Amino acid sequence: MRLISLLSTLARRGYVILALGGLTLLTGCKKLDFWTMNGHQSTIVVNGPVARSQLGVFLVTCWVTFFIFILVGSVLAYVTLKFRARNESDEHAEPPDQGHGNPLIELSLIGASVLALVIIAVPTLKAIDYTYDVAVEDKANAYEVNASGYQWWFKFEYPSEQITGAGPLVTANELVIPAGRPVRINLRGTDVIHSFWVPKLAGKVDMIPNRGNFLWLKADVPGYYWGQCAEYCGDSHAVMRFRVIALGPKEFNDWLNKQLEPARTVAPATEQPKAHFASYKTEWKRNEAGWSEKFELNPLDAWRAHQEPDVKNENVALILQGRETFKAKTCINCHTVRGHDGSGVNGPNLTHVASRTTIAGGLLENNPEQLARWIRHPEEVKPGNKMFNGVNHMDGYLKFKNGPRDPDVRNITLTESDVTALVAYLSSLK
Ligand code: CUA
Repeated sequence: MRLISLLSTLARRGYVILALGGLTLLTGCKKLDFWTMNGHQSTIVVNGPVARSQLGVFLVTCWVTFFIFILVGSVLAYVTLKFRARNESDEHAEPPDQGHGNPLIELSLIGASVLALVIIAVPTLKAIDYTYDVAVEDKANAYEVNASGYQWWFKFEYPSEQITGAGPLVTANELVIPAGRPVRINLRGTDVIHSFWVPKLAGKVDMIPNRGNFLWLKADVPGYYWGQCAEYCGDSHAVMRFRVIALGPKEFNDWLNKQLEPARTVAPATEQPKAHFASYKTEWKRNEAGWSEKFELNPLDAWRAHQEPDVKNENVALILQGRETFKAKTCINCHTVRGHDGSGVNGPNLTHVASRTTIAGGLLENNPEQLARWIRHPEEVKPGNKMFNGVNHMDGYLKFKNGPRDPDVRNITLTESDVTALVAYLSSLK
């Protein structure tokens, strides 16, 4: 009787737990299609051989443990039912003689455990070997890039040997790679340990200061993939993101050639239009950024559409003013716009920043509203960032002098017209 009441209590609680768990899954993961297990950062629906190999190991482990669960669960259910107390005297009876030390059972259990571990170990070792480095026969075809982790963004570098340009090509937060080719990524850390992870392609491997590390990946087809820092690295670790964009051979070369060009300079119109300051209204509370629908429907096409400047709607006078502001407000100390001004390396290289679909370390969509929000209140978007807090013992440029939330007494004040001009300038850097 006691058993039955216990079981029914458990059953009642079980329904509640299941219902709550189900609700959490359904409401919590908007971006995850529950039934197909697909989403931006799904490790179940993958697009490259390295991630597929990692998924294989995961599934082998799942099946082995599932088999053990069914086996042990069935034996438990069987003995629970067979030896249950059937009446009052059964309940108060002395337990039967306890037997242990049967060599046959002991040895078989040890043998079964070893077998289970071997079944898991063989594919695991094969996967470790496969995912460690590009296969020897594929080495000649491998493309090489350097990735460095900073608090809290990623720098990507195309070494001189890979490109026809004179120096290495430096970009940030969006790694563009050739699809269908193995890509070997040298991982470096500059401040603390970060970890490089593109769930649909490969990962995670640590980026460690003063220690070379690498991984390789391959994208089966052209695509737009979400990446994430996977090692706790300070205040804004959770929002340290990036993207990997895989392109076909021709499109990749076109992109590379365009990136190698110095920053785009707008031709001053013969008749200067009067600069007007549209104010970018933004909700700058730190909440979900809100992404355009196009990034859900076809992110790669959205990325492609982002590569060309919107010449017709540009305000040349405002752009030129923004370039002056970029110097005057000392943005050049931390950022480089190759061909224009600045040689700073503390922050991302902004030479072609407008051709990226994201800003603020892959966190915000790169559009005028979000750019204005980021420049105005970086601390609201990414707590602890260096644009706000400073770097190398320098005071933060936008840091408030008298406590938080006193925008009028910053070290460097950006007026609304400064912000508007900066946004216009940065948006012109395709
Ligand atoms: Cu970088 Cu976490």
